[in-house]
Amino acid sequence: MKIFHLSAECYPVAKVGGLADVVGALPKYQNLAGLQAAVVMPYYDRKFTRENEFEVVFTAVTLLNTRRLYFEILKEKTNKLGFELFLVHIPGLLDRENVYSYPDEREQFIAFQLAFLDWISYSQQTPDIIHCHDHHSGLVPFLLYHSKLYRRLANVPTVFTIHNGQYHGAFGWEHFQYLPEVDPSSIGLLDWAGGINPLAAAVKCSWLYTTVSPTYLNELTINSNGLEYLFYIERAKGHGIINGIDTEVWDPKNDPMVPNHFNAKTVVKGKQANKEALCTRFGLNPGKPLFVFIGRLVIEKGADLLPEAIDRTLAQYGDDVNFFILGSGDKEMETALLELKAKYPGRCNVFIGYDEVLAHEVYAGADFLLMPSRVEPCGLNQLYSLRYGTMPIVRSTGGLIDSVIDFGDEGGYGIRFNQVTVNDICHSINRAIALYQNQPQLQILRKRMMALDFSWDRSAKEYINLYESLNPQI
Ligand code: GLC
Repeated sequence: MKIFHLSAECYPVAKVGGLADVVGALPKYQNLAGLQAAVVMPYYDRKFTRENEFEVVFTAVTLLNTRRLYFEILKEKTNKLGFELFLVHIPGLLDRENVYSYPDEREQFIAFQLAFLDWISYSQQTPDIIHCHDHHSGLVPFLLYHSKLYRRLANVPTVFTIHNGQYHGAFGWEHFQYLPEVDPSSIGLLDWAGGINPLAAAVKCSWLYTTVSPTYLNELTINSNGLEYLFYIERAKGHGIINGIDTEVWDPKNDPMVPNHFNAKTVVKGKQANKEALCTRFGLNPGKPLFVFIGRLVIEKGADLLPEAIDRTLAQYGDDVNFFILGSGDKEMETALLELKAKYPGRCNVFIGYDEVLAHEVYAGADFLLMPSRVEPCGLNQLYSLRYGTMPIVRSTGGLIDSVIDFGDEGGYGIRFNQVTVNDICHSINRAIALYQNQPQLQILRKRMMALDFSWDRSAKEYINLYESLNPQI
């Protein structure tokens, strides 16, 4: 069975967030299970694309309104990622360094989708399933079934996965001319609340859609930035499948990015050695509990509450606790965190930016990971942290509910709280500090975390079952 995954991001080619990790891992595990899964994404001008070899497998010209765009489909030569990687190269439009946030982003992603569709309809590359991820590829299911240009592909089933239902990629009807000619009676499928909404169109037109955790599937009907009613009426077409993690990339026993390797048996010594390395580098105290946050500094992740929660905790506990933040995003939040770094030298440090190697070192060296998310479709950081024996402290939402059990409950291994408030965060930090005083119990819990299985094997099979339900002949 041949699957094309379409995405704006894929690790290690281009990563902004968790979407990249999923698209960089799921196809690999699907291939191990006997599928032929490939990834198709835009060509960006980045380290990976500069340092690897590609061959041109197709060239053509696509039409974006009146603009004729020459494009190439490039294929990575070695298949070293565990799947075939195809890049849509549109010189002048897609070959830039960043993934998002250009003023012509709308044109970029529409052109990416048109070029993909042109390629598979003109070449003999008919897949058995097209699997689109997030709104950047959300127009594909609509165009496939409602534009006569792509009639040859009209029987190909599409699956759409929502990694983040807050972003829809919506734009005004005045940009309708960017799309090719479509059946006039289908135009309403593009619409939501008076605009063209690629996420809504994908939910309506794909054969089925999935969310990256079961709880998030239900949450979309109460919190999806205006699409609640749509998710309510389309609920029967939805399936929640929790993400897995790439256990080869995230493996404390072998991780080349981590200085001291360890397993569940050696976690106490191993973690302490990594903690010492990390604390030495960032001027923190390895003898005290280390709380960390890794991720985008945005409201969605609850990062706005961190400065006050950290300030309050450090004022209360003095030298008895450390914080380390790795991330970037909202400038006000960055500034507030940097002020804390200046106010509490030796107890709070902040690295503004994104650094994959440092992220691995932090998971390996930290005691507790804070995730006060307002919205968390799945969340991968809690899964990485569990794998490295670092206890996640999470707000009860989305995939965090589906993957973290509070240590106060039977079989539990994490800390959960309900409200996105400084009070709830501080209360959870207090519980964590009390637990840290009880090292024997904490070590039992660390071993329990490390024995959990969040590998892709199970979830990759759930996707395969869905594909088979759509295309039983294959
Ligand atoms: C998005 C979501 C995150 C999820 C990831 C991968 O980044 O915010 O919760 O884990 O996608 O599906």
